[in-house]
Amino acid sequence: MKRRRFLVLAAVSGLAAACGADPVEGPAFATKLRIPPLLEPKVDADGAKRFELLLQADGRSQFLPGKTTATWGINGAYLGPTVRATRGDRIRMAVTNRLAEATTLHWHGMRLPAKMDGGPHQMIGPGATWTPEWTLDQPAATSWFHPHLHEKTAMHVYRGLAGMFIIDAPGGPKLPHTYGVDDIPLIVQDKRFNSDGSLNDGRVDSGTFGFLGDRILVNGTLDPSLEVGAELVRFRLLNASNARVYRIGFADNRAFHVVGTDGGPLERPVETGRVKLSPGERAEIVVRFAAGEQVVMNSVGENPQEANAIEQDDFDLLRITAARQLTASPALPERLGGAAAAPPPAGARTRRFVLTGSEINDKDMDMTRIDEVVPAGAHEIWEIENTTYAHNFHIHEVAFRILDVNGAPPPAYQRGPKDTVFVPKLAKVRLAVQFGHFTDPVSPYMYHCHILRHEDKGMMGQFVLVEPGTEEQTPRTIMAPGHHH
Ligand code: C2O
Ligand code: CU
Ligand code: CU
Repeated sequence: MKRRRFLVLAAVSGLAAACGADPVEGPAFATKLRIPPLLEPKVDADGAKRFELLLQADGRSQFLPGKTTATWGINGAYLGPTVRATRGDRIRMAVTNRLAEATTLHWHGMRLPAKMDGGPHQMIGPGATWTPEWTLDQPAATSWFHPHLHEKTAMHVYRGLAGMFIIDAPGGPKLPHTYGVDDIPLIVQDKRFNSDGSLNDGRVDSGTFGFLGDRILVNGTLDPSLEVGAELVRFRLLNASNARVYRIGFADNRAFHVVGTDGGPLERPVETGRVKLSPGERAEIVVRFAAGEQVVMNSVGENPQEANAIEQDDFDLLRITAARQLTASPALPERLGGAAAAPPPAGARTRRFVLTGSEINDKDMDMTRIDEVVPAGAHEIWEIENTTYAHNFHIHEVAFRILDVNGAPPPAYQRGPKDTVFVPKLAKVRLAVQFGHFTDPVSPYMYHCHILRHEDKGMMGQFVLVEPGTEEQTPRTIMAPGHHH
C-alpha cells in the first residue's frame, strides 16, 4: 500500500511538465464576456415553474479567432442558460437528451429528494426527457447543474454540459442583483485547444488527475473583458473545471468582500484578497470599483509547500473596465442573513472517510452498494482523512460547515454553508453536516471527490436517508439502473 502511494506521488510531480499541446495565441482580453442567457420558465397549470433544458452535442463554438470548436451545450452551443428561481417556487425541469448517448443532469447544491437529484441512478437515454420536480426550500445561493453519469462525468462536463442555478430568497439583504449588470455569473474552466481549434481532451479520462488546461474560459469566453457600470458588483464564482484549483483575486491585490459560500450567505461580509475554489465550489463576492479604472481578475498558484500539480499555475481570468460614470450602489449590508456556524450537538455521530489515490475507505464506487445509512435530519461530523495528494469532497443534498482543517478553523470566508470542500494533501478535514428530511431507503445520494477524473475512477460512495430508527433494517444492496422492472 505505502509503496503504491509513493509511486503515484512521483507520477504526479512530473505531471505539469508532461502535458504538451499546441498553445494557440490570441490577443489579450479581446472578447466581450459572454453572459449565459436567463432561462424563462413556463408556468404550468398547477403553478409550477417549468424549465426546459435540451442537452445537445452539435455545438459550433467560436473561442479562438478564425477557428471553430465542436462543443456540447444545453439550449445552445456551449454551457447552459442560467436558471434563476426563488425559495418557495415549485420547480419542474424537463431535461431532454439530444446526445447520441445516455447522460444525467445533477442539481449540484440542491436539497431535494434523491430520485430528483440527477446522479448516476437517474440516467436519461438518448431522445428521452426526464422531468424531476421539487419545491425550492433552501437559502439564497449560487448552485449549478452538470451531468453525473457513472464513470463518464468528466468528458460530458469538459465538452460543455454545465450551467448556473441561482436561488433567490425573498426578504434577503440588499445585494447587487441585476443579472448581467451588477450580478455577474463567472463560470471558470480550463481547457486545451488543438491547433485546428478543436478541444484537446487527451487527459480528460486518463492519468492521475485527469485534465489540467493551459487556457481559461469564463462563461465559455476566451480572453474575456467586461465593462461594469455600478460601484459595487457581485460576481458569482463557480469552478466548473475538471481538476484545477484556483485562488481568485485581482492583479492589484485589492480587497473585496465574500458574501456567500456554496450553500448560502455568510453571516457578515468577509474582507479578503483571494478566494480559493476547488472543482465544484462557489463563492459570491462583491467588489468595489472606481470610475474609469481597469483591473484584471486573476488566479494565482499556491505556496509550493502546500501545492501539488493541480494548483501551481497563474492565470488571468477577466479584464474589468469601470465606466467613467458609475451608478451609486447602496452600502454592503452588515448582516447577510446567514447564521453563524454552530458547533455540532454533543454526541453527534462521527463517520470517517479515508481518501487514497482514487478510493474512499479502500473501496471503489459500486452503484449497487449503500455505503452509509443516515437518519433523516441528523447532525453528524464527517471526518475526511487524505493520505495522498490533494482531493476535494462533495456531499449531495446537505449543507455543511468546515469545522477544521488539520485542527485549525478555516479562513473566515469559508465559514458559511458549504457542500464541497478542498482537502489538501495529507490533511484531515472535519465537517459538521446537517442532513435533510427526504427519506428513501433505495435511492442513494452521492459523496465524492469532485476532481472529475477521480470521481469517474470510483472515488465516490452512496448514502441513503432513512426514517430514524430504521437504519439497521435498511438494505445495503440496491439495484443499479438497467435492472429496473
Ligand atoms: Cu457536482 Cu456529485 O456533483
Ligand atoms: Cu452534487
Ligand atoms: Cu480526488
